[in-house]
Amino acid sequence: MIEFENVTKAYNSSRTKAVNNVSFHVPEGNTVVLLGPSGCGKTTLLRMVNCLVPITEGTIRVNGKDITSMDPIELRRSIGYVIQSNGLFPNMTIKENIVIVPDLLGWSKKKKHDRYLEMMELIGLDAKHYQKRYPSELSGGQQQRIGIARALAADPPVMLMDEPFGALDPINRTHLQEELLSILRKVKKTILFVSHDIDEAIKMGDKVAIFKEGELMQYDHPSDILTHPNSEFIARFLGNDRALKSLSLYSVRDLIESFDLKPVDVNAEGSRQISLNNNLRDTISTLLNQEASQLVVIDEFNKPLGAITSDRIEAYLHEIIRGSASLQGVEQ
Ligand SMILES: Nc1ncnc2c1ncn2[C@@H]1O[C@H](COP(=O)(O)OP(=O)(O)OP(=O)(O)O)[C@@H](O)[C@H]1O
Ligand SMILES: [Mg+2]
Repeated sequence: MIEFENVTKAYNSSRTKAVNNVSFHVPEGNTVVLLGPSGCGKTTLLRMVNCLVPITEGTIRVNGKDITSMDPIELRRSIGYVIQSNGLFPNMTIKENIVIVPDLLGWSKKKKHDRYLEMMELIGLDAKHYQKRYPSELSGGQQQRIGIARALAADPPVMLMDEPFGALDPINRTHLQEELLSILRKVKKTILFVSHDIDEAIKMGDKVAIFKEGELMQYDHPSDILTHPNSEFIARFLGNDRALKSLSLYSVRDLIESFDLKPVDVNAEGSRQISLNNNLRDTISTLLNQEASQLVVIDEFNKPLGAITSDRIEAYLHEIIRGSASLQGVEQ
């Protein structure tokens, strides 16, 4: 769907290349997270896709078409873009900001209004209250939500999202990550998503591309990156707890494919229930935070299936690191 072939960007004012000979393919319907330290070229790469930054060398294709052969204005209308610093138009109301692309596409007044209501509902802001307000009357996080709604408003098949949740507090960030994932389960979109945050990349990305000084260092599924970093740089970037992070990709259901649950100890203090869909990272943190020796796993009919303990998770972690655990998919 989006193909980068030996793409390079050298800004005139700089001797180093902001993006250096980058090639990778973003399959249709996938979310690919661009991850890497500040200044490694993430925003530059994103802005080349909608022709906001001219390519120095190489080719980018969207839907098989070389972007340099397309009308840049039309290209931009067909791609949703969430700018790193929200980029709302200060002299337009919130509603005008959200429906700007539908407006350019000539939608009817009613269709635009309905879409406005739908988008405000989605991002959890009161449509009536904000309709006639201006961006400066909103907090940074609220402005960022409006930026996301604006990018989604015309329902484009391709989205470029530059740290869309960067200015949000952890609760709103998690909420919007989950909202976006639930939208993506319903409608197929191809997304390039920039993030600084490894946990966000693991959660949001079908694949993750890690950059260093303009070069693509590794492009792989999150579980493969976490368990098989291809260089010292990637391993250091992911941190010492990368194995622990990989637990968020596996569920209790995955674990019981490999290990039997323990019999429930009815005398254990403070035991709590968890479902099969719980991811193992949350499971282990619940075990530690509750100082419980076991968690009782229940099925969809609330029937107890057995107990999970930290040693079971630890054994499973060894399987993950050895590469023998199979990923069933965690409900996020
Ligand atoms: N308009 C420009 N003119 C000259 N150099 C630029 C321009 N925009 C970016 N650069 C340089 O290109 C490199 C990559 O910048 P870019 O903004 O793409 O990084 P980034 O990975 O998005 O960083 P951050 O995480 O801080 O947003 C940096 O060295 C930056 O200084
Ligand atoms: Mg950037």
